[in-house]
Amino acid sequence: LPVTVYANQQEGSLAVAQRIAGLIKDKTAKGEHTVLGLATGVTPIQVYAELVRQHREEGLSFKNVITFNLDEYYPMQPDAAQSYVTFMNENLFAHVDIDPANVHIPDGTLDQEAVAAFCLAYEKKITELGGLDLQILGIGRTGHIGFNEPGSAPNSGTRLVTLDDLTRNDASRDFGGKQNVPTKAITMGIGTIFKAREIILMAWSQKKASIIKKAVEGEMSGDVPATYLQLSDNVEFVLDAPAASSLT
Ligand code: F6R
Repeated sequence: LPVTVYANQQEGSLAVAQRIAGLIKDKTAKGEHTVLGLATGVTPIQVYAELVRQHREEGLSFKNVITFNLDEYYPMQPDAAQSYVTFMNENLFAHVDIDPANVHIPDGTLDQEAVAAFCLAYEKKITELGGLDLQILGIGRTGHIGFNEPGSAPNSGTRLVTLDDLTRNDASRDFGGKQNVPTKAITMGIGTIFKAREIILMAWSQKKASIIKKAVEGEMSGDVPATYLQLSDNVEFVLDAPAASSLT
């Protein structure tokens, strides 16, 4: 697995933002749109901040960008403080010139019976738009990518999943207590992520060191879904030194 280690989160985030901006500019110059798969959480925040800065100060335009977010809690109202809709608006979309019609985030408001059809349509939309050019990932301490928790199948598609206990613990601060964290989420599948032409998984800080070691050097297994990335020719791990500190 290609692993690039930066001294700190700031440097790693700037490098990833540069990759995204470069892709957008290249494709825009060719008259093509860019289809991005996006993540939430603390990991990509500085990447989005740098993209916003480039939009404001250097004219980077998102007019030809189409986005698909990895996941959303279920159930979740889009205007709730903890929704991934709110997160994306606050950290990126409200500050750039993206067409709101080009933004896709799984819908946490659907009735349970409507979720399966929504998930199929989400996959279909990605395919019809030519597939994801670049998928950005973080990694959870369970080894999840998106919300593909341990036990997820390598060919899984977008679907409703049950969140792992550790994932709900890690989210409890955002929700003011674990009892308020939804038990489910809608997530792109591992198979969906795999179809992206490029995948960048980012991890910062010592807290991620042990799961990064398992993901990069561990045996491939459904117990650590991120190990499936070892099968991809198009993935790069971008780490800060503390997250990489357990790698041999
Ligand atoms: C978020 C997502 C998750 C996070 C992971 C790490 O959209 O899909 O897989 O990337 O839980 O979260 P942070 O970045 O908060 O450590």
